[in-house]
Amino acid sequence: MSERTAAAPETLLAPAVQVSQSEITQEIRDLHADLARREDAGESLPATMHDFPPYRSSILRHPTKNPKLVDPETIELLSPAFGQRDVAAIESDLTIQHVGEPLGERMTVRGRVTDSWGRPVANQLVELWQANSSGRYIHQRDQHPAPLDPNFTGAGRAVTDDAGEYLFTTIKPGPYPWKNHINAWRPAHIHFSIFGSSFSQRLVTQMYFPGDPLFALDPIYNTIWRQQDRDSLVGVYDHDLTSPEWSTGYCFDIVVDGPDATWFEPEEDRP
Ligand SMILES: [Fe+2]
Repeated sequence: MSERTAAAPETLLAPAVQVSQSEITQEIRDLHADLARREDAGESLPATMHDFPPYRSSILRHPTKNPKLVDPETIELLSPAFGQRDVAAIESDLTIQHVGEPLGERMTVRGRVTDSWGRPVANQLVELWQANSSGRYIHQRDQHPAPLDPNFTGAGRAVTDDAGEYLFTTIKPGPYPWKNHINAWRPAHIHFSIFGSSFSQRLVTQMYFPGDPLFALDPIYNTIWRQQDRDSLVGVYDHDLTSPEWSTGYCFDIVVDGPDATWFEPEEDRP
């Protein structure tokens, strides 16, 4: 597989004036409490708050106008197309893309893409990108002092099978610093992109890991203000998916529409 540059990391998004972690954490707590009060009072609120001041750069990047309705068929005429043959099986194994093996905890990520009625979403392109085990992206603007791994690019693709399932072999990414505030660190995460049945349905999300101590500190994770919605972004450790002497296993199911949908980033917010 050819080298592909990973998406711009969150370090690109530094605000001019930085505040402390404790101030950011308090802002997050206050906003969550206020949102819970508003919901208790009967207000209907979205699962994620696009205007979320602790995530400093989101103030300038979140949509301020209603989304435009587009005709999916018109979009399809102008969008790229891919076929199942365009995605090679080797692309779902991020540990065999170079001469040697990458450093880090080898892991399997398996999941099922369904709609909100539980029906499998088959033959869909699932793309994944991530930092290496040291928390470093292959990206020219990610220059924080953690090593690149010459045996790890951090990008892969798979197509869901008839049961809507995908499977990747990769290594567990490390947490990394970004410049939202002083001493800001992102919890370890893997970025996912799912194409629905048409290109105009492309959706992007992140998978996290159970018990990460950075959860309460991270403004991006906490733009999703209800705990149960945040929980849906945490991969589930699965010992049956763990292979003896080989790799650990995590499950990450994705629901692509309806009230049970996995929280997705709007296109403008994708780090
Ligand atoms: Fe990231």
